[in-house]
Amino acid sequence: MNRPIAHLAGVGSFAPSRVMRNEEFAALGLDTNDEWIVQRTGIRERHVAGPGETNKTMSAAAARVAMSRAGITPGDIDVIVLGTASPDRLLPSTAVDLQAELGASRAAAFDVMAACSSWLYGLIVAEGLMAAGGAQTALVVGTEKLTSIVDWQDRSTCVLFGDGAGAAVLKRSDGSKGILSTFMRSDGTLAELLYRPSGGAAHPFNQQVLDDRSFYVKMEGREVFKHAVRSMSEATDRALDGARLTGADIDLMIPHQANIRIIEATAKHANVSMDKVYVNVDRYGNTSSASIGLALDEAMASGRVKPGSTVLLVAFGAGFTWASLIVRF
Ligand code: ACO
Repeated sequence: MNRPIAHLAGVGSFAPSRVMRNEEFAALGLDTNDEWIVQRTGIRERHVAGPGETNKTMSAAAARVAMSRAGITPGDIDVIVLGTASPDRLLPSTAVDLQAELGASRAAAFDVMAACSSWLYGLIVAEGLMAAGGAQTALVVGTEKLTSIVDWQDRSTCVLFGDGAGAAVLKRSDGSKGILSTFMRSDGTLAELLYRPSGGAAHPFNQQVLDDRSFYVKMEGREVFKHAVRSMSEATDRALDGARLTGADIDLMIPHQANIRIIEATAKHANVSMDKVYVNVDRYGNTSSASIGLALDEAMASGRVKPGSTVLLVAFGAGFTWASLIVRF
């Protein structure tokens, strides 16, 4: 493939207005505190969707900003790729709800489920469709209402996650900017380290599932942590190799925002100093497939990504899945 084929012509994001601080968990009866959460994760607060806020509304808000910045209308979109681990409904996809909400009547629309790697998986799939001639303009969205799938009685998971959406419009590159390299990988043998045991076709909903709360997210935090550092390090290596670059060539690294300690370890491995790493996990928590789009939008708005900037995006999530991508703006 002769790159760059696709460039990020517009980026947008949305976060619900309700901000929940760490101190509020005690009022829910959870034995936790701000100091523990900040020390182990770097998270201070997260955005929580309110009544009426869904993945459809959040992704549409993010998409409208991205489309306006890319100078396109919904009728210009050939394909919508939507990443989520918390779909509004199990059938049909959240992508078709977004399509209807936007009025993107010419588009094909589908979801990708690669947990926190979904937005990067989505960008890679969309780039591939563009390379194959199946699309000229793509909308790639990551959106999560994770507060609806975590167990608010489980302090080891509910303090970590938040809600939001990030979006990008991909257009054909003129050769000067765009996606320079990509990498994606999975390991399904590790699926049960971070998963929702019940509620799907293998263990459909019944009274027992409701009683044992097995439809909520379960996680082996320590194991996930180890694999996250290892896999994100591999992903940064592969993306740099693919673009024939080193850490020194990267103007900004935007890792999936799960935990500040995972971010620091990944940056160290890639030889990128922390002043070149974008961090907003303190204000959003882990928003899974929304996290990199949200962070990229903030980084662009604050001038940390400029025309000519070379940016490394890297993600890790349930599955496990991991992915990376280098893009020049
Ligand atoms: N408040 C206070 N204590 C807590 C809390 C909490 N919120 N949660 C757990 N604890 C307790 C545990 O019960 C345990 O107590 P014990 O020793 O009496 O049994 C103790 O703290 C230590 O628990 P660990 O799980 O070993 O703590 P650890 O240092 O590993 O930190 C954490 C836990 C923050 C979850 C860490 O393992 C982590 O960040 N893992 C990666 C998780 C992650 O990022 N997941 C998502 C990545 S992929 C994706 O984004 C989908």
